[in-house]
Amino acid sequence: MSKLEITGGKRIRGIIDMHGAKNAVLPILAATILTKGVSVIHNCPKLKDVNVTVDILRFLGASVRREEHTLIIDSSGDLKSDIPENLMHELRSSIVFMGAILARCKKARISSPGGCELGPRPIDLHISSLRQLGVSVLETEDYLECDSKNSASGEIVLSFPSVGATENIMLFSCLMSGVTIIRNAAKEPEIVDLANFLNKMGARICGAGTDEIYIEGVETLNGTEYSIMPDRIATVTYLCCAAVTGGEIEIRRVNPNDLEACLECFIRCGCRIGIGKDRIFLRAPQRLKAIDFIETKPYPSFPTDAQSLFLAMLATADGKSIIRENIFKNRFNVAEALKEMGADITVSQQTALIRGKKRLKGANVSAPDLRGGAGLCIAALAANGVTQIDKVCYIDRGYEEIETYLQRLGAKVTRLD
Ligand code: EPZ
Repeated sequence: MSKLEITGGKRIRGIIDMHGAKNAVLPILAATILTKGVSVIHNCPKLKDVNVTVDILRFLGASVRREEHTLIIDSSGDLKSDIPENLMHELRSSIVFMGAILARCKKARISSPGGCELGPRPIDLHISSLRQLGVSVLETEDYLECDSKNSASGEIVLSFPSVGATENIMLFSCLMSGVTIIRNAAKEPEIVDLANFLNKMGARICGAGTDEIYIEGVETLNGTEYSIMPDRIATVTYLCCAAVTGGEIEIRRVNPNDLEACLECFIRCGCRIGIGKDRIFLRAPQRLKAIDFIETKPYPSFPTDAQSLFLAMLATADGKSIIRENIFKNRFNVAEALKEMGADITVSQQTALIRGKKRLKGANVSAPDLRGGAGLCIAALAANGVTQIDKVCYIDRGYEEIETYLQRLGAKVTRLD
């Protein structure tokens, strides 16, 4: 289990190019089994979660070759229709394979994806939506046995705009005759990226990015070539690194429209933001101002994935900030580790009160989850002294070579294996 050792107090300054988005590439890789052809995926980030997804593709029977940031997937042979428990449990988002396997094989056997560090991760919306489309889903203690021989297009109204459930319905219905409609669909940019990829394969999907998505089923889909959108949450992470150290940063190969709610919050805490077609520039004040209230909501509001990042960043801001988490129950896990670094954070129910301190102090801490781990990196950069962050495997799930990116920006970071 490797650790990151970060020596705080250095200003983050420089230019980086953003890597592809974890939350876009995972469902797009699942979509590659919808064709008996070859798909070429560019700007594919080198992440642990991508490696597990590739393991699942290979287990199903697809061949996958990586050339730097490009994956070539050939799913022309016969594919299995089950995913073993160990692979399902390694990757919560592997649940989106359910829709893709059902569309390809008309049956699927997958183990329940289980919870994760963010607490229980129910899949009731996934199951109820597929059942409404005529899929039979037998739930046992350990796995789901699904059969779609009697399925038909239909209209799904999601009680919550679940990203994963929206993706599963899109993947399942693009090869099913008739028009399937998703109402109260998730509107995240990653949904749009998935729809763009599927349409490039020959699907007929419109409305992605709005709360009503129409999928007109087609007979077959073809292999295609596609480049993954940039990672908007990793972008916010590096902006926070510069903001919390009084630095300045330019991040290229990004889409500023994907993170408007976050950019607004950077301005509220005193940062100067410049945007171009595919770049964002941030210059931080000597000390950030507190933000009186932020709450997480589905896109286009402030994203839950940025909550831990701002929790860490505001721990040294001038004044009191309040953050309310409305999406995941356990997303304040990182507060305990931040308190070990001297942060003054009080969590009650789904709300955190942060009383900004001038400086935090280095400590030995553990990453509680992916974004919490990234939050600890942000805090460590602004702390006095040395911080060692354990369980870096969580961070590696969603950030490509984080120590290399931070070193390039002037940070003193080393990975201790
Ligand atoms: C996706 O998770 C992302 N993961 C998450 O990013 C992100 O935080 C989340 O969307 C919200 O934007 C990937 O794309 C791989 P949801 P997902 O279904 O699809 C409840 C990260 O850090 N819910 O929109 O699992 C659920 O419990 C990760 O990169 C049900 O109740 O999110 C949660 O409270 C973390 N029943 C809320 O909806 C269901 O059937 C949002 O879940 C499904 C979800």
